[in-house]
Amino acid sequence: MKIDIHAHVLPGVDHGARDWEMSLKMLAKSARCGVDTIIATPHYLPWKKEDMAETIRELCKEAEKRLQEAYGVSMTIYPGNEAYYSTETVELLKAGKILTMADSRYVLIEFEPQVSYSTLCKAARDLRFHSYLPIFAHVERYQCLENIERLKELKEMGALLQVNVGSFQGGLFDFQSNKVKKWLKKGFIDFVASDMHDMEERPPLSNDRLEWFQTKLDSKYQDKLLYGNAQNIIDGIKE
Ligand SMILES: [Fe+2]
Repeated sequence: MKIDIHAHVLPGVDHGARDWEMSLKMLAKSARCGVDTIIATPHYLPWKKEDMAETIRELCKEAEKRLQEAYGVSMTIYPGNEAYYSTETVELLKAGKILTMADSRYVLIEFEPQVSYSTLCKAARDLRFHSYLPIFAHVERYQCLENIERLKELKEMGALLQVNVGSFQGGLFDFQSNKVKKWLKKGFIDFVASDMHDMEERPPLSNDRLEWFQTKLDSKYQDKLLYGNAQNIIDGIKE
């Protein structure tokens, strides 16, 4: 089975699923690829100061129920957020305004693509200092990480690294796709996830998009990336 830890699948809370129809289609497609657990991660943008925590929890339960009714599919959907990092992130986490992943100490954190390396380091240290376990979302987007040594350093600081399945679908000459494949082959990545927002542009996990992954990576590592490390989040295991 698979666990998708990065999903904008709840309707009406961010620019992911537009309505329940789209949300259920995304969940049903995920299930066809063997996903039986999802951590829903609506964006938390600090400048909006929205308090969505209770709504997210309720929508997770409702999504499970609606999916069962509409498609006869059982899936566990845990609450979470994808928090845009700011100097207030730790306070917002402590106040319960930003949700951790499945109520663990793991937190999904995103940055702007031009983020500086020093900000990434600060975020990793800051969150670890306060006993959170940061997962950096779609690390392939951050331009300051072109040097692979920096990935190693961030991991040593306690950051966990996630890439999007859509980021290694490019052809032979696609720079980003080659970079992500190299990182995966070297074993630097902790999670592969969909970051699904809809059915077309950023769709759910599917077997055709996992073909490279399934043929080129060691099966134990595949299992960690799409299941084992995510199960540690749900079980509350700290690495
Ligand atoms: Fe996302």
